[in-house]
Amino acid sequence: MKKRMTFMLSAVALFVMVVGSVKFLQVNLNEPFPNIGTFDIVFLRNVLIYFNGETKRKVVSRVLSVVPSGGWLLIGHSESLHGVNDSVHAVAPSIYRKP
Ligand SMILES: C[S@@+](CC[C@H](N)C(=O)[O-])C[C@H]1O[C@@H](n2cnc3c(N)ncnc32)[C@H](O)[C@@H]1O
Repeated sequence: MKKRMTFMLSAVALFVMVVGSVKFLQVNLNEPFPNIGTFDIVFLRNVLIYFNGETKRKVVSRVLSVVPSGGWLLIGHSESLHGVNDSVHAVAPSIYRKP
């Protein structure tokens, strides 16, 4: 019982630490980004499906502009960057890495 309580308190402490260091921000992918910094990994799952070809190209290019070399872009399983952006390496289906 004591062990379980200790585990639960540790989990809560970790959660508070992580959430406390996360900044939540609403960004329109169709517009130039505000100064949001860079991201080692971007999850863009099932978002590109909303856009036509030209908009997809612009959105992906904008997103990749905030991903440093070696960073990752993950999209949905039914999506692909084929014909959208060829500057990243396809590591696995829907997983791309910036060289
Ligand atoms: C099908 S949901 C996918 C949500 C989540 N990524 C997932 O896989 O469960 C598509 C999301 O794309 C967001 N979205 C669509 N157009 C957008 C835009 N121009 N800028 C930012 N987000 C957008 C919607 O708000 C919605 O949350």
